[in-house]
Amino acid sequence: MKDVYILGIETSCDETSISIIKNGKEEIYTAILTQMDTHANFGGVVPEIASRMHTENITMVLEEVLNNSSVTMDDVDAIAVTYAPGLVGSLLVGIEFAKALAFAYDKPLIAVNHIVGHIYANNLVKEMTFPSLGLVVSGGHTELLLLNDDYDFTLLGSTLDDAIGECYDKIARIIGLPYPGGPNIEKYAESGKVTYEFPTPMKDESLNFSFSGLKSYIINFVHNEKQRGNKINDFDLAASFEDVALGEIIDKTRLAINKTGAKNLIVAGGVSANKHLRQKLEDLAKEEGIDLSIPPIKYCTDNAAMIACAAYPLYKKEAFADFDLNARCEDKHFNIKD
Ligand code: KG4
Ligand code: ZN
Repeated sequence: MKDVYILGIETSCDETSISIIKNGKEEIYTAILTQMDTHANFGGVVPEIASRMHTENITMVLEEVLNNSSVTMDDVDAIAVTYAPGLVGSLLVGIEFAKALAFAYDKPLIAVNHIVGHIYANNLVKEMTFPSLGLVVSGGHTELLLLNDDYDFTLLGSTLDDAIGECYDKIARIIGLPYPGGPNIEKYAESGKVTYEFPTPMKDESLNFSFSGLKSYIINFVHNEKQRGNKINDFDLAASFEDVALGEIIDKTRLAINKTGAKNLIVAGGVSANKHLRQKLEDLAKEEGIDLSIPPIKYCTDNAAMIACAAYPLYKKEAFADFDLNARCEDKHFNIKD
């Protein structure tokens, strides 16, 4: 079969990224322009600024990709773009850019769900095997899925409120660490000890998660201690928070392995960049005797390589999008059949 080159576009949050991927797994070139420093001034992503910055930068990002790869627009077989979930204004910039490219170069358009994209990032390292258990931990999502086959996924459980990454970002903010909070909390936790006792989010037999109770508890705890004039050890607080939050992820993942009898675990999303989570998942995989797959850190956070990878099975099935494709801030369409 002829090699297939897909140009992927990702603009769902604060990264403008474009990538060309060969045959759904081989990276030709990926450009990522992050707006993180701008949003850090506001303590989080400001949607209006994000979409404006995507508009200003997206052409430059495409130029970087084309200037650094031997693949030309004529060689590209399809244009893939994240259509959901994410910030609507930001998504729309990517979608309209993708439509313009698809129209101008007469290429098919492929709509990719961002969560599905995170999962398919695994193909960049090791081809995914089915059936597998999928764990998605990001700034907007905390989900366990049964990956039966390409684009045949069953949602087993998800967060009932905040995502784990969102919780990391809020806890970081309350102790004065800049956005994005995840990597900063991780660093602080390394110098701290588990000394504070925080409540376990959900001690039940479901595969759902909950992080808002833990978040509120810690926010109230910090306020109360400050009002009493007590000093908090931020390093210990970070370590104590991680212990509970990551413990919850591990407990529910173990439960899912036991409930489904899964032999493979595929992990995805920005929080899977966390060293402590990666270590705990490796330990879990050893204890349960399952095969673990986590993308390297650069493919865990938002990037367009994963979008082009996730588009490949859709390309093979000719599941193309129409030019009336719209953005959606929420979307749980993980299957071709949906
Ligand atoms: O997947 P992602 O880049 O964007 C979404 O789709 O949400 O995930 C971003 C989230 C942020 O909440 C960020 O704080 C978190 O991933 N994150 C981390 C780490 N690196 C990024 N959380 C914990 N530890 C990290 N090292
Ligand atoms: Zn993401």
